Amino acid sequence: MAKAPPQFTCTACGATHRKWAGRCDACGAWNSIIEEAPLSAGPKAVGGRGRAIALSSLTHAEAPPPRRKSGMPELDRVLGGGLVAASAILVGGDPGIGKSTLLLQAVAAFAAQGLSCLYVSGEEAAAQVRLRAARLGLDKAPVQLGADTNLRDILTTLDHERPDLVVIDSIQTMWLDNVDSAPGSVAQMRAAVHELVSFAKRRGVSVILVGHVTKEGQIAGPRVVEHMVDTVLYFEGERGHQFRILRAVKNRFGPADEIGVFEMTGAGLSQVANPSALFLSERGQPAPGSVVFAGIEGTRPMLTEIQALVAPSPLGTPRRTVVGLDAARLSTILAVLEARCGIPFGGMDVFLNVAGGMRVLEPAADLAVACALLSAREDTPLPADTVVFGEISLSAALRPVSQTENRLKEAQKLGFCAALAPKLSKPVGVEGIVLHQMSDLTEVVGQVFGAG
Ligand code: TYD
Ligand code: MG
Repeated sequence: MAKAPPQFTCTACGATHRKWAGRCDACGAWNSIIEEAPLSAGPKAVGGRGRAIALSSLTHAEAPPPRRKSGMPELDRVLGGGLVAASAILVGGDPGIGKSTLLLQAVAAFAAQGLSCLYVSGEEAAAQVRLRAARLGLDKAPVQLGADTNLRDILTTLDHERPDLVVIDSIQTMWLDNVDSAPGSVAQMRAAVHELVSFAKRRGVSVILVGHVTKEGQIAGPRVVEHMVDTVLYFEGERGHQFRILRAVKNRFGPADEIGVFEMTGAGLSQVANPSALFLSERGQPAPGSVVFAGIEGTRPMLTEIQALVAPSPLGTPRRTVVGLDAARLSTILAVLEARCGIPFGGMDVFLNVAGGMRVLEPAADLAVACALLSAREDTPLPADTVVFGEISLSAALRPVSQTENRLKEAQKLGFCAALAPKLSKPVGVEGIVLHQMSDLTEVVGQVFGAG
């Protein structure tokens, strides 16, 4: 029988390769490719010897899945309206970002709503988890706590206890005795997630799996199991900032790209009901390079401050430093400003930043970025009462973006009275907001900054 060829998998992004290499072509990570045993050892033909599976029609008979709310609105929103029974949720994030804190608070919140909850820690001893619970003021919460890493034992316990919700912290520490590789390897992690997901489906239990995002080496990252779960959430934030964003990147039971905003305090995570006010709270007098972007995150409008600094560069290749936005997007906007509007940025260092540690992924931020760059370069502040949004095409035309009215309403609510936006095909009016519509970036350059 022919032996299956070996397979090499990147532990950072999960891409498979035919050969080992020092650098993964797919994600660019170094030293992340490892050899993986092929799933089945022999290509034995299965043809026609199985049992017939039950088939049914597409007709929708069942009611939509019932949802259990945690009573933490920021979490419930990201889950798509609450927890679905028998679902598997993966929560990824950098080590130390606050995943264990978030999930301990979540599990206590669900327990307070009457769900029977179990928290299994493979990383910390039970005493450590208890200490954290005390710090969070949750030591009276009716949550059962386990500290173990042997998944066979854990599954046996779960089968016996039959909780409604179980948290596994973290999936990288779990190991199965029938899989012949070290805990944290791709093979162990896939097997462990497979066992837990099938347990969830079989027994109607919801499982939340914690996965550390890893950049190098022997530990597999959550990317390699994203396809196996129903919902993938990432907990993100900048070190040194207290804000944390829980972002849905995949959700079989609700909208993706919904976010929840939290603030890390001395006593755990507190929810931020009005993120726009919070992200703009540090804003002082109108300064050159600072622009307020009226964005949409999932279903919710959100205002953030985009800051740019443009300075003469002593370097041959000037610096382009971006925090919270896409670096490729900055290059595109700089190129459009140079080629279409005649504003050169060569010989200048450019720094771009979203205040508060927020990450903006929308193309609608283009115009705000361009305005911040122009404002910094021309040393001209934009009026403090103006918000900006709109997509820029490669021809420098401004493209309208979705949900203009919601963006304007949020701006009006926070005391802004003007907006700079692309020309709309049908009029949108929000009381108290003067809408400056422009169809091309050159118009913005000329009329707003008097340059070009
Ligand atoms: P943790 O939940 O252990 O992170 P993860 O599980 O993602 O590795 O959180 C660790 C950080 O959070 C740690 O640096 C301390 C901080 N923290 C607070 O600031 N306040 C708190 O109440 C708690 C429990 C943690
Ligand atoms: Mg942890």
